[in-house]
Amino acid sequence: MAFAYILTVLTACLFAHTHAAAFNCSEPPNLGHFDVHSCCRMPEVDLGETPAKCAAHIKTLNAQARNMMNGMGSNNNNKNDTNNNNNMNNPAAEFPAYAHICYPDCIYRETGALVENEFNMENVKKFLNKNVNKRDKDIIPQIARSFQSCLDYIKGHMAAVGIKSYAKLPMGCSPLASMMYSCVNAETFLHCPAKMWKNEEPCNVAKSFAAQCNPLPHVPLPIG
Ligand SMILES: *[C@@H]1O[C@H](CO)[C@@H](O)[C@H](O)[C@H]1NC(C)=O
Ligand SMILES: *[C@@H]1O[C@H](CO)[C@@H](O)[C@H](O)[C@H]1NC(C)=O
Repeated sequence: MAFAYILTVLTACLFAHTHAAAFNCSEPPNLGHFDVHSCCRMPEVDLGETPAKCAAHIKTLNAQARNMMNGMGSNNNNKNDTNNNNNMNNPAAEFPAYAHICYPDCIYRETGALVENEFNMENVKKFLNKNVNKRDKDIIPQIARSFQSCLDYIKGHMAAVGIKSYAKLPMGCSPLASMMYSCVNAETFLHCPAKMWKNEEPCNVAKSFAAQCNPLPHVPLPIG
């Protein structure tokens, strides 16, 4: 009985091990409609007025971009409207590609995480301690560690390619914020505290796949 148990555990470990190392990274596991975002319960964070403020900021940028486009001449008139950022009835135009960079940039600046062009870890920790719902406080140390790991990796990469900061978009947003946002999320997923992890097969498979196939920094980094 004890022997059988040990054998089972051994086999399970062996299987888990080979399983974890055996993914073909071009072929993500098919988890059907399972929502992997539900695997690591995300904390409730009170951002106060910041999201509204940053949404308004994006609208201002949209208006500026619209004016820029209008200023770029009239040869747009004959073109198909489908791809046109000018068309503000189109939801994609309300949140164009640059907004995915400018919105997190705004959120991190408004919350004090990003000061000038540097992440301030003291402010990040202060913000988390103050604004994460008490029932979710177990995840705060991990989020702080994720920030540090991502920052160290990205800074190391910048040093390796010899740049001090990433080039900003014409509207003044730095891509560092959105990279950090995605990296921190992915890193926290990989190191989700047991209390907040849904210990189910699809979640564990998704985590093994991510660990093998999407290591730090978890996002593509710009070269310059
Ligand atoms: C991984 O998957 C890709 C895409 O299906 C395939 O072309 C490739 O041969 C596979 N690699 C291995 C080592 O099985
Ligand atoms: C607009 O796009 C459609 C589909 O992509 C195409 O069939 C049509 O010819 C285009 N019209 C103009 C004016 O370019």
